[in-house]
Amino acid sequence: MNICIVGYGAVAPVHANAIKNIKGAHLYAVCDINNDHAKKCTETYDCIIYNDFDEMLKDDNIDVVHICTPHHLHKDMAIKALNSGKNVVLEKPVGISENELKELTECADNSKGKLCIVLQNRKNNCVKELKSIIAKGETGKLKGIIANLFWRRDEAYYLQDAWRGKWGTEGGGLLINQALHIMDLMLYFGGEIESVKSDIKHWQIENIEVEDNAQAVLSFKNGAKGIFNATNCYVKDEPFYMEFLFENAHYRYADNRLYEITQDGINVLAVDDMVKVGKSYWGNGHSQLIKNFYNVLDGKEGEYTNIHDAAPVMNLLFTIYTKADRKC
Ligand SMILES: NC(=O)c1ccc[n+]([C@@H]2O[C@H](COP(=O)([O-])OP(=O)(O)OC[C@H]3O[C@@H](n4cnc5c(N)ncnc54)[C@H](O)[C@@H]3O)[C@@H](O)[C@H]2O)c1
Repeated sequence: MNICIVGYGAVAPVHANAIKNIKGAHLYAVCDINNDHAKKCTETYDCIIYNDFDEMLKDDNIDVVHICTPHHLHKDMAIKALNSGKNVVLEKPVGISENELKELTECADNSKGKLCIVLQNRKNNCVKELKSIIAKGETGKLKGIIANLFWRRDEAYYLQDAWRGKWGTEGGGLLINQALHIMDLMLYFGGEIESVKSDIKHWQIENIEVEDNAQAVLSFKNGAKGIFNATNCYVKDEPFYMEFLFENAHYRYADNRLYEITQDGINVLAVDDMVKVGKSYWGNGHSQLIKNFYNVLDGKEGEYTNIHDAAPVMNLLFTIYTKADRKC
C-alpha cells in the first residue's frame, strides 16, 4: 500500500514511524504547503513531495492518505480524499462543528474507501488491560470515573502556528486539542451520557480566543458519574490521571500505569509502552491503531476506530462548547 502523509508538522513523524514498522506499507509521498516541512520527511524517508493537496489526490499510486493538518482543514480534506477513492487516516478531531461531523459521516458511510480516526489512547496497554478485565464480568457495575488532565500549553505554543488558539481554525482549545483523548476514554468506559454540566474558561494564556481550563460532571445512562477536570496552565504535561470505581473493584490509570486498588494495597496491572520519535516521547497507541487499520485494509481480521466510534466524544465536545456559547 502506498501512503501519503498530508501535513508534516509535529505529529506526522509519529505516523511515519508507525508506517515504517508495518509490512507491506510504504511511505510513498508527503504533502505539505510548507516545503521545508515536507523536506523534513524526505530527510528520513525516501518519498516524493507534493505541495498541493488536490494535485496529490490525482496520483493513482496512492492508496491511503494520512491527514495531519490543522483542524479546520480536516473535514474537506477527508471528504475529497474519500471521493478520490483513497482510504483515510484522519488525526483527531473529526471536524470543528456538528455540521462538519455530520457531513463527513455521511460521506464516509457512502464511500468505498475506509476512514480511520486517530484516537490512539484507546490502544494503550493500560486501556486495553482495563477493557479486558471488565469483559471478564467480575467488576460489578461502574459507579464513577474521574478524569484529570494537568498539561501545559503556554503562549509560545499558541504563537508558533497561526491556526492555534482560534475558534475558526483550531475549533477550540484545551478540549478539542489536548483533552479530547481523556474525554474519549471516559466515554469509552462509561458509555452513553444522559446529561452533562460543564464550564470552560479562558483564564491564563494571553492572546488566544479559546479555553485553557474546563470542568464537567457527566451523568451516564447506566447511572455512573463522571468527573472531568482539565487545564493547559500547569507547569508540565502530567500523564493522564483517571479513576474507575466499580461495585467490586477500583482501578487507577496514572503514571502511564494501570493500578488495582485493594484493601491490601496497590498492584500494577499494566504499563504503557513509550516510543521516542525525534526529540519527543509518545505512547505507542498510534502504531497499534495504524497497524490495525492496515490489517483491515489488507483483508485481515480486525477492527479500527471509525467515525461512528469517534462521534460520542465529538458530540460531547460540541455540547460543552454550545452550552458555554463559546464565551470563555
Ligand atoms: N493524536 C494525537 O495525540 C495528536 C498529537 C498532536 C497533534 N494531533 C493532531 O494532528 C493534527 C496536526 O497537528 P500538529 O500539531 O502536527 O500541527 P502542525 O501545525 O505542527 O502541523 C500541521 C502541518 O500541516 C501543514 N499544512 C497546513 N495547511 C496545509 C495544506 N493545505 N496542505 C498540506 N499541508 C498543510 C503545515 O504546513 C504543517 O506542516 C491536528 O489535528 C492535531 O490535533 C494529534
